[in-house]
Order: sequence, then structure tokens, then C-alpha cells
Amino acid sequence: MRILVTGGAGYIGSHTCVELLSAGHEVVVVDSLANSSAVALTRVEKIAGRSLFFRQVDINEKAALKSVFDEFAFDSVIHFAGLKAVGESVEQPLYYYRNNFCGTVNLLEVMESYAVRRMVFSSSATVYGEADSVPIPEQSSLSATNPYGRSKLMIEEMLGDLVRARPNWNIDVLRYFNPVGAHESGLIGEDPAGIPNNLMPFIAQVAVGKLDRLNVFGEDWETPDGTGVRDYIHVVDLAKGHLCALETVKETGGLRVYNLGTGTGSSVHEVRKAFEKAAARAIPFEVLGRRPGDVAQCFADVSKVERELGWKATYDLDAMCQDAWRWQSLNPDGYSKV
Ligand code: NAD
Ligand code: UD1
Repeated sequence: MRILVTGGAGYIGSHTCVELLSAGHEVVVVDSLANSSAVALTRVEKIAGRSLFFRQVDINEKAALKSVFDEFAFDSVIHFAGLKAVGESVEQPLYYYRNNFCGTVNLLEVMESYAVRRMVFSSSATVYGEADSVPIPEQSSLSATNPYGRSKLMIEEMLGDLVRARPNWNIDVLRYFNPVGAHESGLIGEDPAGIPNNLMPFIAQVAVGKLDRLNVFGEDWETPDGTGVRDYIHVVDLAKGHLCALETVKETGGLRVYNLGTGTGSSVHEVRKAFEKAAARAIPFEVLGRRPGDVAQCFADVSKVERELGWKATYDLDAMCQDAWRWQSLNPDGYSKV
């Protein structure tokens, strides 16, 4: 298949490009490089031993996007392009709605005009808001607590409206839980701008000596050790989930929604200890108060994706930490020093 990957230079996109190329697909990446580096793509080519096409295009720029569709005839689109910093979305909601929501409208309009009606969309477990219980199945009630999450929810609803009006569209919505880790080569990984917001990259930067200590956000949650519990999933497992979605033949059009997680929760202390083992060094920490907007526990019910796509996560927490550590220690400044 010839696949357009929007946001393909980013963290999850780059790992997915490796899997797509390795499976023999032709890959065209469009990315504005708003939160990524083209170096990631040269490393993707090195790992896969194959080339891809890259066009630096913002999906909000319709003429530029159309020119990519003029150049290549696509079978499918995997749509990763979007901004993802929760705090920034609270500060700059219009920027997030324009980039994430309007950008997706633009992309869908261009796809429709070129009769490309197959999409895999990156959603997030954030659309479950404060879930009533865990593990969380796909049919749980949805809500958003910030503009980033609302942009994902709005896009999901728009995609539902689209397939109701145009039943020949074929869309898979993948709700990621907490993607972590890196490719085992140590060549590609997560490269957050500034101080990381998320747990695993923060711990990795403590381990490599860029940050002094981990701040543990609350030890008074209703969880076994009092710290927040999440469903961490290796980014390579996640990447393979996209391939499964793409390659699973759909008899009819429509919209399908799948959780991508392991189905198992890990606490902040469990992640910290697994990372200490992987990096063979202590991770100093201090317990602070709860972070606003956090929930006690969030982990996936993965029975639907296992049943319908035959996909199952394979890497455990130790492997996630080992691969995150290899990437961080080999590339302490991410792609910026290349
Ligand atoms: P990332 O920031 O590393 O990758 C996103 C890519 O999209 C970047 O390369 C960025 O430059 C590009 N981009 C942003 N706006 C664009 C635009 N208007 N036009 C073209 N390119 C644009 O993030 P990621 O972690 O790889 O996330 C990929 C997708 O998965 C995002 O949609 C994100 O919201 C979603 N997601 C991520 C997580 C996570 O924890 N990483 C969790 C759930 C969902
Ligand atoms: C965050 C985002 C969510 C997004 C998800 C995956 C917020 C409020 N939510 O969720 O929208 O979908 O990432 O990208 O930002 N923790 C610490 N110290 C830290 C960082 C985190 O103790 O320095 C704790 C948190 O309190 C939480 C756990 O670690 O219990 C995981 O946090 P994080 O990696 O930020 O992911 P989420 O909270 O799931």
C-alpha cells in the first residue's frame, strides 16, 4: 500500500514508519516539523533499510497538502499530526483547535476530493475523562477536561458524522493509553521540547543527569501504593497496532474504535523502580501534591482489539524502561545535537 503518514516525523509516527517500511509499504510523510526533527526520518530509513518520501507541509495549508495528493496516489492515511501538550492547550485553546481540529477538517476535505477514504486516526485515552471504573472499555462514557482532550473528542465525533453521511469511508480510531519506550536500535525515541510533562521522559532525564529529581504527584491516591496508575505501552507495540488496523480487511465502510494499551496498570513507584533497574542507578524523588486534572487509575480493556484485530501488546515494563534508557543515554539531547 502507499500510505500518507501525517506527523510522521514525531515520536509515534517515526516508529510507525519503521514498521510500515519493514512490512513493504510505500511511505510518504507530511510534517510541519512543529514538534519534531527531519533527522528522525533519516534514522527511520537507516533502521528499515528503505527510503521514504518527506514533504514539509502543514496540514492547515490546503494548497500544499493538495500538491502532495497530486504527486502521490494514496491507499490510506495514518493521521498523527497534532499538538499534544495539555498545559499549552489550556493556555492557547484556539491554537489547539485550529491545528488539531481545523487541520483534520482540511485533511478530510482533501482526502474526499481525491477519493482517498481510508484513515487511521490517533486518539487518546484522555477522551475517557474521569472514567467510572477500570479497565476501561471502548463504550465507556466520554468527556474532556482540557482543550487538547476536547480537540480529540471533537474529531472523533466529526469522524462519526462523516461515516454516517458517507458510508464508503473506512476509519479506525485508535485510543492510545500511555506510549513510552523507544526503538531497540536506540536511534529513534521521544524528544520532548523543554522539561517533559510526562512521567517516563522525565525519569529518563533524571537518570541521565539533566534533571535533579522526580516529583511524584501525590502518594494519597486510592491505589495500592498511593501513586497514580497508568497503562504504559511500548511505542513499537503501538506502531504495530497501526499496521494491524491497516491490514485487517474491512468488508464494509464505517468507523471502528479500539483501545491500544496493555490492559495492565503500573504505579509511579513501579515505573521509577523499573527504570532504576534498567539504568542501574538510583532515581532521586520527592513526593509533592496531586497534579490538577490527574486521575487515580487509567488502564485499558483490550479485549476488543485482541478479538477484532488480533493485536496484543508484547513488551513488558522492564523492556519499555530498557529501551527508553538506551535512547536517552545514546541521545542525551535528543535530535538537537545531530
Ligand atoms: P509528536 O509531537 O512527537 O508528533 C506529532 C507530529 O505532528 C510532530 O512531528 C509535529 O511536528 C506534527 N504536526 C503537528 N501539527 C502539524 C500540522 N498542523 N501539520 C503537519 N504536521 C504537524 O507527538 P506523538 O507523541 O508522536 O503523538 C502523535 C499523535 O498521537 C498526536 O495526534 C497525539 O495527540 C496522539 N497521542 C499521543 C500520545 C502520547 O502520549 N504521545 C497519547 C495519545 C495520543
Ligand atoms: C498525560 C496527559 C493526558 C495524555 C497522556 C498521554 C495531563 C494532565 N494528562 O496523562 O492528556 O493523554 O499524558 O500523553 O497531562 N507523574 C509524576 N511526576 C511527573 C509526571 C507524571 O508523578 O513528573 C505521574 C502522574 O501524576 C500520573 C503518572 O505519573 O499519575 C503518569 O503521568 P503522565 O505521564 O503525565 O501521563 P497521564 O497522566 O496519563
